[in-house]
Amino acid sequence: MYDFRPGAEASKADIYEQLVSAADALTEGESDAVANMANVAALLGDFLPDLNWAGFYRMVEGELVLGPFVGRPACIRIALGTGVCGVAAERGETQLVEDVHEFPGHIACDAETRSELVVPVIRDGSVVSVIDLDSPNLARFDEEDRAGIERLAEILAARI
Ligand code: SME
Repeated sequence: MYDFRPGAEASKADIYEQLVSAADALTEGESDAVANMANVAALLGDFLPDLNWAGFYRMVEGELVLGPFVGRPACIRIALGTGVCGVAAERGETQLVEDVHEFPGHIACDAETRSELVVPVIRDGSVVSVIDLDSPNLARFDEEDRAGIERLAEILAARI
């Protein structure tokens, strides 16, 4: 139905510009959180190269529960403060991890994962979910990725 994918020549800045606009267009006016997370997970998988997992964990009764994603089946429940996702959710702060083997308590859902970016989605001062991106490449994510996904999280905050 929709194909927003950027061309092969697109810069990282272009990719995030287009990703954020596509996510904005697809979720605007839609109140169903699952539908919105599912479409955004699909966009993340389409737009961002070198990922082995991209999706959401939702805050449900004080723990993170798996949400819509693209990739292999993953851990279903993550306690706050545990692993990269649990730390991002507990602190309400982005975690950019160049080498997951160096991150104390990292949860290896997929042994191939080497680097990870987790951005909390914050609504009315509370973390409602996290966006988790995993890559099989070391140091796949940088400050441009962080800024792009944080912008995405801001747009989604009232829609998921
Ligand atoms: N590696 C994550 C767990 C989630 S998955 O990789 C999909 C973590 O340590 O939080």
